[in-house]
Amino acid sequence: MNILKFESQQKLNEAGAGILAGLVQTNPRVVLGLATGGTPVGIYEELVDTHRKGMVSFKSITTFNLDEYVGISTDHPESYHAYMNHHLFSHIDANPARIHIPDGNAADLKQECERYNALLDDAKQIDLQLLGLGHNGHIGFNEPDHALMSGTHVVKLKEETRSANARFFNHIDEVPTHALTMGVGTILKAKMILLVVRGADKAEIVHQALTGPITTECPASLLQTHPHVVVLLDSESGRLV
Ligand code: GLP
Repeated sequence: MNILKFESQQKLNEAGAGILAGLVQTNPRVVLGLATGGTPVGIYEELVDTHRKGMVSFKSITTFNLDEYVGISTDHPESYHAYMNHHLFSHIDANPARIHIPDGNAADLKQECERYNALLDDAKQIDLQLLGLGHNGHIGFNEPDHALMSGTHVVKLKEETRSANARFFNHIDEVPTHALTMGVGTILKAKMILLVVRGADKAEIVHQALTGPITTECPASLLQTHPHVVVLLDSESGRLV
């Protein structure tokens, strides 16, 4: 693992956006796995800026988002569809036909997972998977458990995850109870993984995930088995590694 620590959020954002933009510049048809949450916002901002300056075009990329809530409409501001449009897609020239996000409103969620897995299979391999980290070690919405699913599946969110995400909603009761998420098998199949973590409140889980035992009770610890992981940390989240 290549662990990089940054003294400022701005430098971390520039580094993250630089890695993503560089990949797109060298391979315009790159397949990117994208993440949501508070962590990647600054990276997306930098990426949009790079695009606005005319340094990178996204018109031939393919994207797959990690996850989506079940049961909130795509135009709900906290849906991951709305998040991606707001922070990235509405500002760049990516082709909507090659943007993929699981549909948390599908009538048949199991079928939707199969559809998403088939799209991922068609794409062969994600070149770079961007990941944030949950306080409990989750990646995407793969919550700690005695066993983890390989492919896209429906997940019941842990109460700690709903509480952590309640800050984005008016009230915790509005936070969905379930989500669709890419599985860890798909995540680990990516050619390269870019894990980004910020904040003192994640220092302990960063330490566990990167240096502790490999266990499904800390899904991010499975990243230790991947041959090409780059980790971007701010100084607070990287305090123990
Ligand atoms: C969210 C997302 C994850 C994200 C994580 C951390 O619920 N499903 O993909 O990485 O939890 O979120 P944040 O970056 O807001 O701390």
